Amino acid sequence: MLHGNRHARVARVPVDREGLIVGKLPDNARLVYVTPSHQFPLGMPMSLERRVELLEWAQKRGAVIIEDDYDCEYRFEGRPMEPLKSLDRAGLVAYVGTFSKTIFPELRVGYVVPPASLFRPLFKARQIADWHGCTLTQTALASFMLNGDFAKHLRRMHKTYAARRATLLSHLQGPLAPWFEPIVPTAGIHLAARLRAPLTEQAVVTAARDASIGLYGLSPFYQRAKPQASLIFGYGNIAGQHIDAALQKLADILPRLPS
Ligand SMILES: Cc1ncc(COP(=O)(O)O)c(C=O)c1O
Repeated sequence: MLHGNRHARVARVPVDREGLIVGKLPDNARLVYVTPSHQFPLGMPMSLERRVELLEWAQKRGAVIIEDDYDCEYRFEGRPMEPLKSLDRAGLVAYVGTFSKTIFPELRVGYVVPPASLFRPLFKARQIADWHGCTLTQTALASFMLNGDFAKHLRRMHKTYAARRATLLSHLQGPLAPWFEPIVPTAGIHLAARLRAPLTEQAVVTAARDASIGLYGLSPFYQRAKPQASLIFGYGNIAGQHIDAALQKLADILPRLPS
């Protein structure tokens, strides 16, 4: 448990292959934050059963759910699952989205579709914080969407990311398979992979960095449970041929690491 601002206490809740384990939520939680399309950082989607279970849990307790759908626009496998917001009949879900992944993070434009009960308080909070966002940027973004260019951009980038993802997986499930077990996500522009023993996260991150390959370990994301050595591979901002070159280099480095 952490003590945050305004006496809010933050509790981390374990996840499994189906996403958040609803039975492990603290009974008195008032607000639940989830990323159902692409669990951050592991990447698996939340199953439909868990979505329904979470909504029922929240309805019984009058808790609010923040559904951060930050990475949902790029889906590569399976049929899209109903967002919590669409399944919500009781007005418990605040749906949050961003243009950071689809356009670029410097735009600093996101949005929230709140339940009716939260509309006024959120409106007030925004007024108190900074009154409003940049209207010039929002107007440009609106015309980008209205004239169809945003949809075209999403289609083009979907192809690009699908190709990068395929390249990454062909290495992780091919020459790098003795060292990595990827957690194949259905959506999003990064993926996580478990490291097979005896390699340690730190040894791989350091050796990769020495070879100018930027990889990040997942141990900082664990609170209480013993971290399982894992790495995160982002492919939002790297060309396919660089993924190829970097992972070939990694395949040369890994066998030489001390175990
Ligand atoms: C879990 C999660 N939510 C949302 C975002 C987007 O944040 P922002 O819209 O502030 O750029 C990110 C960015 O990486 C993220 O990792």
